[in-house]
Amino acid sequence: MTIPNIERAALADINNADTQSNLQLVRAKYLGRKGSLTQLRRGLKSLPVAARAAQGREINVCASNLSEAIESRMAALEQSALDENLSREALDVSLPGRHQSHGGLHPLTQVLHRIEDIFVGAGFDVVEGPEIETDYYNFTALNIPPDHPARAMHDTFYLGDDGNTEFVLRTHTSPAQVRTMEAREPPLRIISPGRVYRRDSDITHSPMFHQVEGLAIDRDLGLAHLKGVISDFLNRFFEMPLAVRFRPSYFPFTEPSAEVDVQCVHCKGAGCRSCKYTGWLEVMGCGVVNPRVLHMSGIDSEAWSGYAFGFGVDRLAMLYFGVADLRQFYAGDLDFLTQFDRL
Ligand code: DAH
Repeated sequence: MTIPNIERAALADINNADTQSNLQLVRAKYLGRKGSLTQLRRGLKSLPVAARAAQGREINVCASNLSEAIESRMAALEQSALDENLSREALDVSLPGRHQSHGGLHPLTQVLHRIEDIFVGAGFDVVEGPEIETDYYNFTALNIPPDHPARAMHDTFYLGDDGNTEFVLRTHTSPAQVRTMEAREPPLRIISPGRVYRRDSDITHSPMFHQVEGLAIDRDLGLAHLKGVISDFLNRFFEMPLAVRFRPSYFPFTEPSAEVDVQCVHCKGAGCRSCKYTGWLEVMGCGVVNPRVLHMSGIDSEAWSGYAFGFGVDRLAMLYFGVADLRQFYAGDLDFLTQFDRL
């Protein structure tokens, strides 16, 4: 091959080399130890002396042209490799971050924690009782003897064979009062949160729901203390000063008994759908512990007195979060639940 042909072929190869290592191969092919130009150089010896110098010069010029072309192609390939790296590793700071999903406390758990914090701050202990109760603790010891009409209001789930009424799913957390009075000496102040069960299911009732029971026993405790503790709790729980009223009512385990209404947290008493346009929300039952109940639990009702209260956690959570359908708390729907990731 003539030198100009070699040079043309080499320049084409150089241009076509698309990576630095391919370009090294091209360099070897023409300028390396076994490269075409090197071989031509070796052949100089066999040329007539007169032709050697001219041919030698031509080879050198060609070699230096190729070296130059290779250098500049190498620089270009280096640059484009660099550019490619840069664009591959580019960091787009405007991209939205990758979302790391995290667990959260169920809204009912959050509300329960708030309730516990408030009462613990007021000196109450938190105690728990069993969800499977005996008839005695759920009813009899709370002054609800067999055939008492109050039993009918409880829509009880009985466990065991037909007609066996010894074991029930507790219908309220009040049995914890009895268990506490049996186990501890007064003075005592406890709340007892937990699951309770009733055969009831609609937009505001679930067959399993949550209550908190409260009990305080001391010397000369009475209605005034009860009113103070309950009003303070409701104001703290709803994080606003709300009027609270006590309506006379009846529970077998308290005497006197009252139902507690709080000014509607949504309309502040003006009347709205939440409060059925009455301006008030019924939130709990309470009263002064019936001496018969103290007596049955082994507490001297001449020396000690106390108050008790009980309320639904689910109902307070609905009011606090503005949730209209109780069943949403139990549907396991993350779109609903993640709205409450805030406490
Ligand atoms: N146990 C009652 C219920 O489930 C609530 C209640 C009312 C509890 C008055 C009390 C109380 O301790 O004094 O409806």
